[in-house]
Amino acid sequence: MTTVPADLPCVRELSRTADGRRWLATLPGLIEQVSDAFGLFPGPPLHGGSCSWVAPATLADGTSVILKIGWPHREMYAEPAALRLWDGHGAVRLFRHDPVRHALVLERCLPGEQLAAQVLPAAEALRIGADVLRELWSAGVPEGRPAHPAETIETLVDMAGDWGDLVAERMTRLRPGYDRGLVAEGARLLHDLPASAPREVVLHGDFNPGNILSSGGGWVAIDPKPLIGDPAYDVPPLLGQVADPHRQADPERTLRERTALLAAELDLDPARIAGWSVARKVESALWRAHHGREDEGAADMAVAALHARLL
Ligand SMILES: Nc1ncnc2c1ncn2[C@@H]1O[C@H](COP(=O)(O)OP(=O)(O)O)[C@@H](O)[C@H]1O
Ligand SMILES: [Mg+2]
Repeated sequence: MTTVPADLPCVRELSRTADGRRWLATLPGLIEQVSDAFGLFPGPPLHGGSCSWVAPATLADGTSVILKIGWPHREMYAEPAALRLWDGHGAVRLFRHDPVRHALVLERCLPGEQLAAQVLPAAEALRIGADVLRELWSAGVPEGRPAHPAETIETLVDMAGDWGDLVAERMTRLRPGYDRGLVAEGARLLHDLPASAPREVVLHGDFNPGNILSSGGGWVAIDPKPLIGDPAYDVPPLLGQVADPHRQADPERTLRERTALLAAELDLDPARIAGWSVARKVESALWRAHHGREDEGAADMAVAALHARLL
């Protein structure tokens, strides 16, 4: 069995960078090593995310699990710490962890369908997401040191501040044909929003509807990139990717209504949701420009402009 076929999304995505290619070269060995160490038998990989290799697997006692081996990068190191904190409430349970090889053995969601793939009225899908977010945010923030220092959950103040600096630096250096005023607004929001947060929670960090799976009659989150900070930060990927609001007849009105719905469900200020939508899209646009994908970044800027009308 080829454990790493060339058409896997993570292979296609990570082949674009030297760092990604180095990790991909070690991946077949990592799969063998962690399978031996954990005593599990992986099946063929899932055609899922772009930053990790994920496969269903069976433990020696027959338990059905998921084996996930992640490409190491800053945003992923605290995934096990957050999953331990949530302890199966709103997120999948973590059974085993190898911090050196960045391998996780996770509870397997069954049927495991993505919220992104459901044919549901938008309001219903958004409420499902909001229910999961409320449960995650209710866990409180961890006290004491994590099991491994690298697993410390970073603060949104630090992370978004670094992104704000990068946005400004990349704009000056690369000069992409983006709206300068909107880029400056995005950088300002990345610096200002975290510091004015009305409360702080452990954030999921990548709460898109592909990371919300059906499990035993309910819904849980997978794949966190956790941070500690303003809850409104978690809303934009849900808002922007459920029943694509940008393809509706009147995208601005659709976004306004859905932002209001999520703000009411989650007890948040709609302007902070709009602010994070702008900030995250501007950050993404400059990241793409930095990786030679200015055109894709221009699409992010168009979305940022739409959200800016809600500020
Ligand atoms: N615990 C799980 N149960 C069932 N399916 C899973 C589980 N974890 C991941 N998957 C599947 O694998 C895909 C990729 O996993 P994910 O953790 O999102 O990786 P990535 O960081 O690459 O996005 C998911 O979209 C989902 O379809
Ligand atoms: Mg994912």
